[in-house]
Amino acid sequence: MQTLHVELGDRRYPIFIGSHLNINELLLPYITGHQVMIVTNDTVEKLYANTYQQALQALGKTVKLCVLRDGEKYKNLENLNLIFDALLQAGFNRDCTVLALGGGVIGDMAGFAAASFQRGVNFIQVPTTLLSQVDSSVGGKTGINHPLGKNMIGAFKQPSVVFADMAQLKSLPPRELSAGLAEIIKYALLGDIEFLAWLEMHMDGLIQGDEALLAEAVYRSCAHKARIVANDEKEHGERALLNLGHTFGHAIESYLGYGVWLHGEAIATGMVMAADLSCQMGWISEADLIRTKVIFQRAQLPIACPPIPLEQFLEYMVHDKKVLNGQLRLILMKGVGQAVITKEFNLEAMKQAIVNNQLKE
Ligand SMILES: NC(=O)c1ccc[n+]([C@@H]2O[C@H](COP(=O)([O-])OP(=O)(O)OC[C@H]3O[C@@H](n4cnc5c(N)ncnc54)[C@H](O)[C@@H]3O)[C@@H](O)[C@H]2O)c1
Ligand SMILES: [Zn+2]
Repeated sequence: MQTLHVELGDRRYPIFIGSHLNINELLLPYITGHQVMIVTNDTVEKLYANTYQQALQALGKTVKLCVLRDGEKYKNLENLNLIFDALLQAGFNRDCTVLALGGGVIGDMAGFAAASFQRGVNFIQVPTTLLSQVDSSVGGKTGINHPLGKNMIGAFKQPSVVFADMAQLKSLPPRELSAGLAEIIKYALLGDIEFLAWLEMHMDGLIQGDEALLAEAVYRSCAHKARIVANDEKEHGERALLNLGHTFGHAIESYLGYGVWLHGEAIATGMVMAADLSCQMGWISEADLIRTKVIFQRAQLPIACPPIPLEQFLEYMVHDKKVLNGQLRLILMKGVGQAVITKEFNLEAMKQAIVNNQLKE
């Protein structure tokens, strides 16, 4: 078991990473009151809810379950309200704990509920997808979608503990595992060339679900995100680097329709486009561009998207929120493992990078 701390002053909190983590020792101390609402979905409930409910009940807690429907399309106000219904029907008070048991959808919704129920109650993250273990459970962004935009309504809410158990990844579909690996590779590409070498060495084991390797990859990824979040919690600067490949990726997601490609798949191709543009600008070598493509391929991620008309692709890109004063800013690489936020790139080269990395019809 490894422990990492997110350094946010008096809101400092630990992330426990390992296999078959001990609920009694590691979770119980962070449950301050007696009431616990486990928020999960109908997929994860069948797999893991019992374990947590029984363990916490045996330790004297009053534990209720709020089971939402599985899917990004339920990450909305209507389903958020079901969490408030459950909390109020159970008669829970300000000393209660909301425990998110699931992937990023559940973490984001439960976190927002915890931020606003009775003006804020204790919140615990038990992320059960690789993506949520390395990304959404760390950093405190929570929220829901609005019909007019993804993640448009939310709050910053830091958990009191994150409990990342690799044993729970056994049941994860392979595509979801790969999607998580996309965000892991992102940390290497944006800031840690030594981690990239480590990933290259261990990719086969990671894809096969080796728990010790996954724990190490989660640890290193969370360490990166935790450091960035501690420096720039509200994304005024450095935190934007975490969006490497995301402006391109969001365009792919939007064009294909949400849910056709997983987010991790879209940003993998998005990062290849960012690397291609960086290569055209002379900031990374041709060899580094190939290296970037190969690591995604080995993680069983797509490195080219279906044909998308350039006009439409660009329109989706400028809809992305990283347009400041009408100028598109992108996260690009000035060397592998060294991402920068910049508007100083050639627009024609950017278009070329998009075209270069689409499947031919
Ligand atoms: N808050 C943040 O900083 C942040 C960062 C990145 C992503 N997100 C959000 O996270 C969401 C995506 O998260 P995700 O990729 O975890 O998706 P998800 O929560 O939809 O989970 C993916 C699928 O895996 C299933 N699942 C979860 N755990 C499982 C397990 N152990 N075994 C088998 N199946 C399991 C889920 O039921 C779901 O069907 C998006 O809504 C995104 O906006 C938030
Ligand atoms: Zn992402």
